[in-house]
Amino acid sequence: INKIAVFTSGGDAPGMNAGIRSVVRTCAFHNIECYGVYRGYQGLIEGDFEQMDARSVKGIINKGGTILKSARSQEFRTKEGRKKAYEALTKAGIDAFVVIGGDGSFTGAMIFNQEFDFPVMGIPGTIDNDIFGTTHTLGYDTALNTAVEAIDKIRDTASSHNRLFFIEVMGRDVGHIALNVGVGAGAEEILIPEEDLGLERLLDSLRRSKASGKSSSVVVVAEGDKIGKNVFELADYVEENMTEYEVRVSVLGHMQRGGSPSCFDRVLASRMGVKAVESLLTGKSNYMVGLKNDVIDLTPFDQAVKGKSKINMELIRVSDIMTV
Ligand code: F6P
Repeated sequence: INKIAVFTSGGDAPGMNAGIRSVVRTCAFHNIECYGVYRGYQGLIEGDFEQMDARSVKGIINKGGTILKSARSQEFRTKEGRKKAYEALTKAGIDAFVVIGGDGSFTGAMIFNQEFDFPVMGIPGTIDNDIFGTTHTLGYDTALNTAVEAIDKIRDTASSHNRLFFIEVMGRDVGHIALNVGVGAGAEEILIPEEDLGLERLLDSLRRSKASGKSSSVVVVAEGDKIGKNVFELADYVEENMTEYEVRVSVLGHMQRGGSPSCFDRVLASRMGVKAVESLLTGKSNYMVGLKNDVIDLTPFDQAVKGKSKINMELIRVSDIMTV
């Protein structure tokens, strides 16, 4: 392998830049040419590449977003689109690529590898942490810290006005962000898709906490939770059925995807980039790098994509005990 491409794909996440930097510098360390691809798979199709050297990635380890931009390409889902990408890569003499993204991005890489026998490697980058084969995806730790900080601020105003706040956090179909920030911010209840609390039990729990002397409360709701149609309807329902509280809703939204990556994400990205490039150089392909028991390890793409990232059930019990 003489030339490796790197790109970011799907929703961006803090730490992606640190991952790009690591891939580029590991290539430089091993005297391999490295190309940055703009806008993920779409840039691959359009041949939107630029050669990068160790200095091209200076000053980005602490930056949120991705200097290579990101996109969700529909065209790469088609055989014709993938053929164009293969042609663009071979024209530039690129031998392998590293994709930083989520499970959709890995599915694309896996199909591409099967169709063209092209060496590919993945680095998990998404704030959702919804990928099997790693305890942490890039950006997850930063998003947790961002969300906790925001919830702490909302708690200040909730408590001044004796209000009940429903705070929606991201996470797509999983509750990793909600469960962790819920415990970290001391939420009264945490609503996640993996566990159906039910509306009645939610009301009972809120009534009990009010009766126990709490004047304000915060409920963290994962965006994928199905207890209400959405967080606004859920809040309306609770307000109608529980006159004890004045209710407000706050949707944290895309602020959770931005900001300077935490030290944890920067270190993780640096380690993952080294492993991704060095694995390609030793002839490995079709794997995702991941963190397991503090070791950077490889998981075959098909397992990473099909497997389920499990919610930590112990945290649900911890939360129940903390809100006694
Ligand atoms: O996958 C990251 C994520 O931020 C999810 O948490 C959220 O459901 C989704 O992306 C939002 O996507 P978009 O940025 O396209 O609105």
